[in-house]
Amino acid sequence: MKHLLKLADLSREEILSVLNLADQLKYERKNGIFKKYLEGKKLGMIFQKSSTRTRVSFEVGMYELGGHALFLSNRDLQIGRGEPVQDTARVLSRYLDGIMIRTFAQQEVEDLARYGSIPVINGLTDYCHPCQVLADLMTIRERKGAFKGLKMCFVGDGNNMANSLMVGALKTGMAFSIACPEGYEPDAALTAMAEKSGLFTLTRSPEEAAKDADVVYTDVWASMGQEEERAKRAAAFAGYQVNASVMAAAKPDAMVLHCLPAHRGEEIAADVFEAHADEIFEEAENRLHAQKAVLCKVMK
Ligand code: CP
Ligand code: NVA
Repeated sequence: MKHLLKLADLSREEILSVLNLADQLKYERKNGIFKKYLEGKKLGMIFQKSSTRTRVSFEVGMYELGGHALFLSNRDLQIGRGEPVQDTARVLSRYLDGIMIRTFAQQEVEDLARYGSIPVINGLTDYCHPCQVLADLMTIRERKGAFKGLKMCFVGDGNNMANSLMVGALKTGMAFSIACPEGYEPDAALTAMAEKSGLFTLTRSPEEAAKDADVVYTDVWASMGQEEERAKRAAAFAGYQVNASVMAAAKPDAMVLHCLPAHRGEEIAADVFEAHADEIFEEAENRLHAQKAVLCKVMK
């Protein structure tokens, strides 16, 4: 694995290999074993958007692996003042061993990888969030044992999370259903690809999408960068909440996952969130293990 730009770039085997290493690293950490797999390696972390989980888990992950992480905010970097990504990539490649970037355009992440000479990891774009979905898959496998035969359902906006979950679910052999309002569908090219799998459904009804689901997933109605659309989106997504009625359609032992941050009373009812808090915060913890695995795969 050279980079992690989007999940679609990874084969099923590469995904499973990351998950296996993540499980191993989690086991080692729980037993107080910290092997310096990335001793002396330096990761630059460019953030053009806010972050709690991604920032802290990458920084702690690098520390635990024996390396060092630099937090690079676009408020401070020249990239924020218009220095081209082609130049930033070539400069940073001379100082660092890897770059993690959270930004708006997927193209910027692809360009960093193209013009730089070091591994690039996508820490979220408007298009996708591969690191989150690796942690989600890890959490599902921990709790359900395997992927084949499972059904994952996503209720809400066809956003970066929906795009990556769709790819992650189908690549690992799960069925994937999404319920979203008209005009808020996931990426058209990914949808066309998913439709060929025979394991994909898109519907307007959350209950229909959730029918017999093993995993129910949701995310905010307005993503970072869409703050001005909040009111319009709140109206469009009324009725697209993971609540008792949606959970009644899912399997009795269905898991609920949320990438966080969550808005209780919007995309998820407070009681459903609290009933599944154990899964949701394990999922958040797994960001650390899954990303340490990705760091080892691309930087070791
Ligand atoms: N889920 C996630 O990526 O969280 P942050 O925005 O806090 O990094
Ligand atoms: N869809 C959300 C995910 C946050 C982790 C956003 O892009 O803001």
